[in-house]
Amino acid sequence: SKRKVFVTRPDVPAAGLNMLKERFDVSTWSEERPVPREELVKQVQGKDALFCMLTDKIDKELLDNAGKHLKVIGTMSVGYDHIDVAEVRSRGIRIGYTPDVLTDAVAELTIALLLATSRRLFEGHQQILDGKWSAWAPTWMCGVELKHSTVGIVGFGRIGQGVARRLNGFSVNRILYSGRYEKPEGKEIGATHVSFDDLVSESDFIIVTCALTPETKEMFNDAVFAKMKQNVIFINTSRGGVVDQPALQRALENRTILAAGLDVTTPEPLPPTHPLLQLKNCVIVPHIGSATTWTRGEMCILTARNIIAALDDKPMPAEVL
Ligand code: GLV
Ligand code: GLV
Repeated sequence: SKRKVFVTRPDVPAAGLNMLKERFDVSTWSEERPVPREELVKQVQGKDALFCMLTDKIDKELLDNAGKHLKVIGTMSVGYDHIDVAEVRSRGIRIGYTPDVLTDAVAELTIALLLATSRRLFEGHQQILDGKWSAWAPTWMCGVELKHSTVGIVGFGRIGQGVARRLNGFSVNRILYSGRYEKPEGKEIGATHVSFDDLVSESDFIIVTCALTPETKEMFNDAVFAKMKQNVIFINTSRGGVVDQPALQRALENRTILAAGLDVTTPEPLPPTHPLLQLKNCVIVPHIGSATTWTRGEMCILTARNIIAALDDKPMPAEVL
């Protein structure tokens, strides 16, 4: 009989979903919202593969409920902090993810968020709606410029490098990056490896594109914000968990830093009444880094290819090892 695949959303792009339907018995969660935990726990039983999202927590309890058949978990995301990787792999289950295909979309969104924050786009739009656009004015709505600035990138992976390449088009003065290792791409891109402390104290713009791990969890705390320049613009397109969010809120309220642009928050979704949303110097968008039609289609196809390869006992195009 056909092997069984459970997909945790009904609205995943068709091209990838059809690749799975051609070969397997595919069932999907019926609603366009995260599958409730108890339903996921129920549905994983007896499945050979799980096609999941970053909103699905894959942990010991879930795996205990899966039968012996479960061979692969394919997440339609590049981040896999929602998956207990050690626990999954200790059971011989393989994990697929979606690097590369989303790099450009996320890098573009990062630049968009950076400019929306530095040039106060949402605030300006709100000023119009509030009837406060009385006339062109010499110093009204002034922001800061990327040109001649120092930009620090925390997490110089594919996405961080993609951001750095794009920044070269803005005539920035220096691009710094931190991380355990100096990367060979740094030289070619014109980015300098420095310590995290130096990056924090020297940058005018700080962009976070690292993965959420035990080492990066809440690495941006009160002490780190205090070391930043007062005109810093802080951008996060990685995971909300890398930031101690109350500390960021204090830094914005006290003008320890100038502004922040966030694609990711804690929690997600952020409630509309959240105090961060009341701050004029905080721009927030709803975790849409990879949200272009092309990229989401490719992410779905890659997730399907990962699952097919694993069920065929073949090398996966993108496996978490
Ligand atoms: C999005 O945040 C992803 O990890 O793909
Ligand atoms: C992953 O986080 C990447 O930078 O591609």
